[in-house]
Amino acid sequence: MKYQVSQQTAAEVQAACIVVTIDQSGKLSDAAQAIDDASNGFLSQRYEAGDIAGKSGETLLLPGVAGIAAERVLLVGTGKEAPKASAALKILKAIAGATAKRSGSVALSISELTSEELPESWWAEQTAIAYAHATYKFTETKAQPEEAPKQAEAVEWLSTSDSAAIEAALLKGAAIGEGINFAKELGNMPPNICTPTWLAEQAIALTADSSLETLILDQEKLAEMGAGAFYSVAKGSSEPGKIIVMQYKGAENADEAPHMVLGKGITFDTGGISLKPGAKMDEMKYDMCGAASVFGTVKALLALKPKINVLAMVTSAENMPAGHASKPGDVVTSLSGKTIEILNTDAEGRLVLCDALTYGIDNYQPASIVDIATLTGACMAALGSVNSGLFTQDEDMAAQLQTAADYSQDKVWRLPLQEEYQELLDSNFADMANIGGPLAGATTAACFLSRFTEGTPWAHLDIAGTAWDGGAAKGATGRPVSLLVNYLLNK
Ligand code: BES
Ligand code: MN
Ligand code: ZN
Repeated sequence: MKYQVSQQTAAEVQAACIVVTIDQSGKLSDAAQAIDDASNGFLSQRYEAGDIAGKSGETLLLPGVAGIAAERVLLVGTGKEAPKASAALKILKAIAGATAKRSGSVALSISELTSEELPESWWAEQTAIAYAHATYKFTETKAQPEEAPKQAEAVEWLSTSDSAAIEAALLKGAAIGEGINFAKELGNMPPNICTPTWLAEQAIALTADSSLETLILDQEKLAEMGAGAFYSVAKGSSEPGKIIVMQYKGAENADEAPHMVLGKGITFDTGGISLKPGAKMDEMKYDMCGAASVFGTVKALLALKPKINVLAMVTSAENMPAGHASKPGDVVTSLSGKTIEILNTDAEGRLVLCDALTYGIDNYQPASIVDIATLTGACMAALGSVNSGLFTQDEDMAAQLQTAADYSQDKVWRLPLQEEYQELLDSNFADMANIGGPLAGATTAACFLSRFTEGTPWAHLDIAGTAWDGGAAKGATGRPVSLLVNYLLNK
């Protein structure tokens, strides 16, 4: 799909569909009014006849409107008042849903909806993301691929302002959309295909772009290096674990300290010997969605080529029960030298993450770290699917991530990470236990990780509740790619 800016008017633009708006008092936007004037009041007649009330996100498709160049008009309701961010996204979702799967080009004349808080560039960016969502479908493992759905060839944004800035916003949104869809695709892949080895292959494929360098560390090498926490998880599976290191170097000074993002890539989480119950266990294939969001972010960076250095890492293993799996009570030595008593083998995410954190810090001295992980059911219970959990003791990191979350509407909510919780990880037999008991589970998981990030500004995103949609629309959401890309681009 192509995205372009045009200075044409709604009545004169040649397109398969022109999108204009009406509010809930029946007031047509200026662009809609121009079409109404050209068509002898056709749009206002439809409103008078009750075909559309103007409610937020309501749509009415009108073919063959006289007096205009476009083949049809999509009239979209905008509600009672100027849309705020969440209403804006609902409107864009409705527009993309109604037009993305029709051939030809679609022109949007909706720039009248912009406001000081939501400028035209924000709308343009979100439009491209909405089209990416609307055109995504998982087909990879269907034997008989359905007939390729029709797709709009081009989305034209009709603008009266600085078209270079709007074009850049459309391209940014398209790149983020592509990243989101890549993350969805990885997250939806079945766990017999999406293994640590397969994820490593995805990273190698991305090096077709020469601004990316990839290094794959395999399980035996990691064990030799002393990454005993990572190894304690990986060794339970016949699929070898990997730590994947992708270096994107865009900064003018190639040696500038990189910003690190690290994703949890458990390609299937059975719980290990602390086996999970059977119901919905298939969904534990999404335990690699932190990794998927890192891949999606890299994809977007490669399209946008920002002048920053990013160290994108994925720590990947399969958590299985086996004769050679770790047991509750095992004590292992992490790459940092700290020892860990594994009280529950289902708390595996923090074990694979802690050694990757140490590896990243020791070898690349990152300027900052964000880790992204489907880490705890407790975070999902606390925040549901609206917000990802944000944990950090660094106010600067908190502010940067909050800003990016507000802008992208890829929302986060801060949860506590105070010293007082650390003692819940006390162990009689090791430097720490890998679980903190029944209380404050999302926080104790973050406390565990904090012990491996001392000295580097670090934040943790728990995406257990946000990376996956349950129910009928079951599938990966592609979150928090939009948040991460915006956060990195602001650097
Ligand atoms: N991958 C899970 C967390 C999870 C649960 C993600 C549900 C998505 C949906 C993680 O590895 C896990 O099992 N965490 C345990 C930790 C507990 C043993 C301290 C949990 O949340 O129950
Ligand atoms: Mn687990
Ligand atoms: Zn897990």
